[in-house]
Amino acid sequence: MSRPLLDLAARFGTPLYVYDLATVRARARALLAAVTWRPFQPLFAIKANPVPAVAQAIVAEGFGVDAVSPGEVALALRLGVDSAKVLYTENNMTDAEQTAALAQNVLVNCGSLDRLQRLAQAGATRAAVRFNPDIGAGAHEKICTAGPLTKFGVHYSLVDQVRAVERGSALKVVGCHMHIGSGFLDADAFVRACGVLLSVARQLPNLEFIDFGGGLGIPYKPDDGPIDLARVGAEVSRLMAEFCAAYGRPLELRLEPGRFLVAESGTLLTTVTSVKTNPGPDGRTFAGCDSGFNHLVRPTMYGAYHRIANLSRPDAAPQKVDVVGNICESGDIFARDRMLPAPQPGDVLAIGDAGAYGSAMASTYNTRPLPAEVVLDGDLVRLARRRQTVDELLSAWEW
Ligand code: LLP
Repeated sequence: MSRPLLDLAARFGTPLYVYDLATVRARARALLAAVTWRPFQPLFAIKANPVPAVAQAIVAEGFGVDAVSPGEVALALRLGVDSAKVLYTENNMTDAEQTAALAQNVLVNCGSLDRLQRLAQAGATRAAVRFNPDIGAGAHEKICTAGPLTKFGVHYSLVDQVRAVERGSALKVVGCHMHIGSGFLDADAFVRACGVLLSVARQLPNLEFIDFGGGLGIPYKPDDGPIDLARVGAEVSRLMAEFCAAYGRPLELRLEPGRFLVAESGTLLTTVTSVKTNPGPDGRTFAGCDSGFNHLVRPTMYGAYHRIANLSRPDAAPQKVDVVGNICESGDIFARDRMLPAPQPGDVLAIGDAGAYGSAMASTYNTRPLPAEVVLDGDLVRLARRRQTVDELLSAWEW
């Protein structure tokens, strides 16, 4: 892979995001195979990677879309996804956004009781409810999305009040949802939370589906093992079978992974621009690059680990370096104390597993343009996004 990546760096320049659709399809198919319960409707959490060609590859495998904003709903509909396969998991949506979602005929997954009431008042006849099962998970506190500290969902103990809205209106709660956190490799907490969600679901008579959310992690660190997908698939299938037997009819199962599908498909290519070593016994060596946390914020924001390879000099003697970016902040660090084939200016580095929440979270901080993005589909190379120019950035302002 390193030769083609170097060719892409030469052809498109760096910083450059590259996605390999073969990996995306493999992950989508692995998930479909691991879950035996039917009906099963997986959704792609498109926030992880909204690149149309990437999302399209997943949709083509039968996935719907988990959307969290009007923009993501619009993206899903423009990709041709049937509105019945789009779930809009709202978070503090406005009334205007609610009106638009109803007009688009997408199901709103309510994260609060007052939103559920307003949906009912607006004449909606169907909605889902996101519950907080009070069990969280995730690779970092900032991406744990359930439990007492988080703003998401209706606390599971308030299911009576959900029922009261249902009884007092024409609205039926057709979906029972949770998403407890992101990036877990050990599924124990997830399976426990599924049990809590099902205890809530039992009290909702009009359900069509149960959605256990996303969150499946990937092995970012060299000593991480992959998540036991077979176990996750078997557990959710078993739980659904038991639940539906008691509920009296089969419900659709939904899962909505983002990272699991796309993280490993993506690489951020960046060029080393400067290497320096501070004097003294503890002097650090900094390998500075032409990208930064404006393009991949995960290391800065979550202390996340991303593999890094020196594509230009794979056989050079290893050296301990801090790989840093070109943004004017000390936290602009891709990796601390990383052993890399000694980088030299001009070397191309590949930052791995950058396909989820990489470009999706990129910004134009320091008035630096967004990078170019390309998609590999077998031998085909497609430009997914032109490199943004400074002129484009400046033209967004009123002068
Ligand atoms: N469903 C809902 C309602 C979500 O909020 C999320 C992610 C997902 C599904 C997909 O989660 P996944 O399968 O990708 O873990 N920026 C962070 C991750 C934030 C995730 C937010 N919600 C990161 O870079 O790790």
